[in-house]
Amino acid sequence: MGLKIVLLGAPGAGKGTQAVRMAQEMGIPHISTGDIFRKNLREGTELGQKVQEYLNSGALVPDELTCEIVADRLQEPDCANGYILDGFPRSLPQAEMLTEFLAKLGQKIEAAVNIAVPDDVIVERLTARRSDPETGAVYNLKFNPPPPEIADKLIQREDDKPETVKSRLATYYETTEPIIAYYDKQGVLKNVPGADASPDEIYQSIIDVLPK
Ligand code: AP5
Ligand code: MG
Repeated sequence: MGLKIVLLGAPGAGKGTQAVRMAQEMGIPHISTGDIFRKNLREGTELGQKVQEYLNSGALVPDELTCEIVADRLQEPDCANGYILDGFPRSLPQAEMLTEFLAKLGQKIEAAVNIAVPDDVIVERLTARRSDPETGAVYNLKFNPPPPEIADKLIQREDDKPETVKSRLATYYETTEPIIAYYDKQGVLKNVPGADASPDEIYQSIIDVLPK
């Protein structure tokens, strides 16, 4: 039986990096609201148009719209045995709505893993992040260099410019960080240090703290 997991952490903490691997090894879906929004943006859908300004400026998409998207996704059959939520919830109202929504299905979040990374490391990582527009693979010019043959096609996220990274961090501390205490109160919080260690080592620390 898979777990229902929330990954917490500032922008650039490594949520996406870890979630991709966890999903693969645990055989449960990786649900990233950021990835869903960016895909819709690229494809020019109605949702993409609605969220474009928020994403590019690094502001949060309104809670109600975000929760609607996640509620739809969680009702798909592949979520029956667990999932990894990455980048959601991101505010207290979102966390509360998720709890209520799951309660109606007789479910609850079993682990909220908080990946802690200091601000200076975040800024260094995000400004060097690049991704492959075809495969979605994420690299880092400093910490996880891409193979040279694909270097030319890599792109930088619009919100990874230095000014936008600062405002995303400010939004994180103001609106998102309080949900760490929310999950602590529910008894499911697991803290994992996310800096000064390789993605492999951090992956192992996450596996170590998950309920068996
Ligand atoms: P989202 O896509 O969720 O962005 P984020 O939270 O800002 O997080 P990131 O994707 O930037 O970082 P990450 O933690 O996934 O790190 P990664 O693994 O890539 O959201 C984007 C936007 O969508 C929001 O600003 C908002 O507008 C909207 N949105 C999304 N969800 C929302 C919600 N719930 N409510 C409202 N709005 C929402 O790693 C970062 C870099 O570091 C990479 O280059 C990686 O290679 C490198 N790296 C990873 N691990 C290590 C390591 N151990 N050592 C060295 N480098 C590492
Ligand atoms: Mg991410």
